Amino acid sequence: MSKHLIAPSILTADFLHLESEIAMVNSSEADLIHLDIMDGVFVPNLTFGFPVIRQIKSVARKPLDVHLMVVNAESYLEEYRDAGADWLTVHYEACTHLHRTIHRIKELGMKPAVSLNPHTDVALLENVLPDLNMVLIMTVNPGFGGQKFIENSYTKIRKLKKMIKNAGAETLIQVDGGVNEENIGTLIDTGVDVFVVGNTIFSASDPIKMISNLKKLS
Ligand code: DX5
Ligand code: ZN
Repeated sequence: MSKHLIAPSILTADFLHLESEIAMVNSSEADLIHLDIMDGVFVPNLTFGFPVIRQIKSVARKPLDVHLMVVNAESYLEEYRDAGADWLTVHYEACTHLHRTIHRIKELGMKPAVSLNPHTDVALLENVLPDLNMVLIMTVNPGFGGQKFIENSYTKIRKLKKMIKNAGAETLIQVDGGVNEENIGTLIDTGVDVFVVGNTIFSASDPIKMISNLKKLS
């Protein structure tokens, strides 16, 4: 029985029919709904903000996993909580006072996670690891769905897994970008707990069945 979690990323969903896309995820075996918030500054793309998160929350029956690809995330933590975020991920590269930000997220009642760009060493998280519910290893450069998985990610996942074990922490490892039916098995074996999956689900002819297939693999 597999214990890994699937978090469909709605970045490649049909935004003209967002309610039915969320209904699809609700009725599937998915564990979380992943929302990509981009500000056009930290990453070269723009997505959506609080009003859209709030509306998604009103129909979502799975926890919202909100991935912030923005600068100044720390200025709006309460607003993300009020809009409905259950998990909140900030980027290491975009947070000067990371420790303070993580603890504020926790105080606000959300689960804190930190994301690392492909070039960022996992060792940089050593001092905050026990404070984190999850570490997100970006397996593509953030900004767009449908990109190719970066193979060097396996080395980072293995290294992070060791760090978590040595710290006696229970931090989950999440990956985001280029996950598909071919690589998910190896990623599970390498130690990934939570999978963000965009294109593979939303461009499938039967997304519910695809989610079920991704849950079954181990
Ligand atoms: C990329 C986003 C991802 C994206 C993944 O910056 O953070 O969540 O939606 O999409 P796929 O699975 O298509 O690579
Ligand atoms: Zn994401």
